[in-house]
Amino acid sequence: MVKTLTVNLGPRSYVIQLGKDLSGAVKTLVKELNSEGRRIAVLSDTKVQTAQSGALREMFGESAVLAVEPGESAKSIATLGTVLEFLAERRLDRGGVLFAVGGGVIGDLGGFAAATYLRGIGFYQVPTTLLAMVDSSVGGKTGINLAAGKNLAGAFHQPRGVFIATDLLRTLPAREFAAGMAEVIKYGLLGDAELFARLEQSPLTPESTDLAEVIRRCCAIKARIVEADERELAQEGGRALLNLGHTFAHAIEQAAGYGTYLHGEAVAIGLNAAAQLSVKLGTLPPAEARRIEAVLAAHALPVRLASPLPLPELMAATMRDKKVRGGLPRFVVMNRLGEAATRDGVPPDLAEACFRAVGAA
Ligand SMILES: NC(=O)c1ccc[n+]([C@@H]2O[C@H](COP(=O)([O-])OP(=O)(O)OC[C@H]3O[C@@H](n4cnc5c(N)ncnc54)[C@H](O)[C@@H]3O)[C@@H](O)[C@H]2O)c1
Repeated sequence: MVKTLTVNLGPRSYVIQLGKDLSGAVKTLVKELNSEGRRIAVLSDTKVQTAQSGALREMFGESAVLAVEPGESAKSIATLGTVLEFLAERRLDRGGVLFAVGGGVIGDLGGFAAATYLRGIGFYQVPTTLLAMVDSSVGGKTGINLAAGKNLAGAFHQPRGVFIATDLLRTLPAREFAAGMAEVIKYGLLGDAELFARLEQSPLTPESTDLAEVIRRCCAIKARIVEADERELAQEGGRALLNLGHTFAHAIEQAAGYGTYLHGEAVAIGLNAAAQLSVKLGTLPPAEARRIEAVLAAHALPVRLASPLPLPELMAATMRDKKVRGGLPRFVVMNRLGEAATRDGVPPDLAEACFRAVGAA
């Protein structure tokens, strides 16, 4: 059964479709676009192209697919250039449409290309990782990395629609599925205590019968937050709440060297650190922090650093975070399981203590 969810953003509103197999729905859309004389282009990566060749053929027939190298390195100026040239070669005009079929890398790269080609064309997200299904394919943040840091160039560009087909997860490596679970757990912690309780009962797996429903709940939380604060301008709360655990995680990724931890793995350690911070600030009882740690571990996620990272480097990375305000980093803390808040002015020694609690030296 196909479920739908609307992201209400006035003229930029769009529908998220959720189901097991949505290749028929994508195929119908492609036919409609073609019958209106609108050209389409498809972006993916080589791993997805190999793993999901059948689904790609079913959705797009013989349409050319640009498959870039898999992994974070594709979010580069050079690869963006390749995508833009591909759109031009395919002679897409302003009515042209790009389909981004892949994980968060392909969604971010394709979305940014769609935002800039001819000053903006439409694009659809067809996420193929759990992380992309629950997080990056919804909300319109697109972008690439610069030598100076991650996601430093980008645009807000909402997709025209999102097709979330859980069958595509069948070929996703287990480690990548677990990494996506960190974001699922994050949604439970920041906005849905019932979801957290569900995850506490038994770990969610690719075979879980309620997988699509869990993904829908995550998308619903993200949609609600994005609708209220599309461009992350709220002084408090708002879209920044989606960064629960992420200030710690970004510092860990940077200090360890990108690629050491998958993003979701760093987020899992970051969620544990954020729970420790909430306990230290007196907003979360220690017993609830232990429940959070247990749920992360039950989903095959790390809760501590595999080997110690130097505290000065972690703190320096924290201070370079995009979210620093008034010289002090901004954190998201939990008021209770299922409710989060932004917290400015956290003293550095408290942040240090949290890094130490997750294994920093
Ligand atoms: N825009 C946003 O709001 C937002 C939010 C969160 C993360 N992100 C970005 O998302 C990116 C991470 O996304 P990701 O974790 O999906 O990584 P990814 O796109 O690199 O995919 C992970 C790996 O899985 C492979 N893969 C994808 N789908 C597969 C499938 N169905 N079968 C087999 N292999 C498959 C890919 O080839 C890749 O090797 C980061 O760049 C991050 O900055 C963006």
